[in-house]
Amino acid sequence: MRLKCLLITQFTIMASLALVTSSSAPVQAEDLASLKATYKRPAQIPFPANNPYTPEKAALGKALFFEPRLSGAENMACATCHNPSFGWEGASKTAVGAQNTRLARQAPTVLNVAWVHPFFWDGRAETAEAQAKGPIEAPGEMNMPLGDACSRLTAIPAYKDWFEKIFPGESVTPNNIAKAIATFERTVTASYAPFDAWIDGDESAISASAKRGFKLLVGKAKCAGCHTGWNFTDNKFHDIGTTTTDIGRAKIDPKDPEAMFAFKTPSLRDTAQRAPYMHNGEFATLDDVMRHYETGGIDRPSRSPLMQRIDLSENEISDIITFMKSLTGSKQVVTLPILPN
Ligand code: HEC
Ligand code: HEC
Repeated sequence: MRLKCLLITQFTIMASLALVTSSSAPVQAEDLASLKATYKRPAQIPFPANNPYTPEKAALGKALFFEPRLSGAENMACATCHNPSFGWEGASKTAVGAQNTRLARQAPTVLNVAWVHPFFWDGRAETAEAQAKGPIEAPGEMNMPLGDACSRLTAIPAYKDWFEKIFPGESVTPNNIAKAIATFERTVTASYAPFDAWIDGDESAISASAKRGFKLLVGKAKCAGCHTGWNFTDNKFHDIGTTTTDIGRAKIDPKDPEAMFAFKTPSLRDTAQRAPYMHNGEFATLDDVMRHYETGGIDRPSRSPLMQRIDLSENEISDIITFMKSLTGSKQVVTLPILPN
């Protein structure tokens, strides 16, 4: 399943890059049909073999995701910063943690985590399991040593039994907390959007403007060089020439000259729900984002070669924004878990 998913991603990247590089020319009808296939929603969520899905594990993970007692002062859950009412991220420019500390980066969404790898803006965690332990312990985030988190959960009989049932003989351990949370996160998928209905053949699902916007995204505006496939990301790192002073990926991969100021391409799913934008929340609106892309950003050695000035008319900018809005899922309802007491 994992392998199949990787193959699909690679194919998608190749297919869209071919189109991006060959095309200032308009997208031809047959190209459009094959392109639409590469943006189709996958039928299944990929789960790794070493942490397979079970409904019970996902339910436990959901409780833990909303569990404030996983933080030192019992005041902060994963969902505080990855807020389901706000596209599973935060409304502030950068996240604010336990002890009211402002963090250097914005909380990215946990939507479609099953298709994301590696994790964090700079890719420093390989898996969702490895990622999940970080924020619990980080003093600026939830400020709770993992050993203490395990003792606290073990002291709540309903949690102890719940872990015992799902992880027989192991019960509450840091790894099992991480496995349950990661399983839940993989079930958090962007819901069916008007764009998906269009991809599935309903021509009336999105406006003519959104259709033009999609053609610009994969064509002249070059966005699909990075925002590609059904989750609109290549899961790679790029310097898009913003004024940031955060060195991003260069901290993890100092030898790569293109890693300087490079961040992981975020998904565009539900992006209209998830302002402000970028790793530091520097753009307040999608219009601000487009003004940046129009200029190509700051020209420096690390900047991606795809980032060049693009001549877009006001109508074209508005078409691309309309297209991005067509990626917002309809009827999104998230139920809250009742936590053991
Ligand atoms: C205080 C706010 C805060 C809390 C609480 C928090 N996070 Fe985060 N989360 C962040 C920030 C900020 C980042 C980005 C950090 C970076 O990239 O350097 C992040 C990154 C992530 C990512 C990476 C997403 C991606 O696309 O790479 C995942 C997944 C995630 N958090 C899940 C969790 C889970 C699970 C918990 C609870 C155990 C949690 N977070 C608690 C702020 C928070
Ligand atoms: C060279 C690769 C690349 C290209 C081309 C590109 N993007 Fe991006 N995009 C990124 C990266 C990387 C980020 C995050 C940058 C950061 O945080 O500093 C990003 C961020 C965004 C965001 C903010 C998402 C969020 O959750 O904060 C939006 C919206 C966006 N891009 C839309 C577009 C559009 C529209 C185009 C075409 C006009 C485009 N991008 C072209 C790589 C690219």
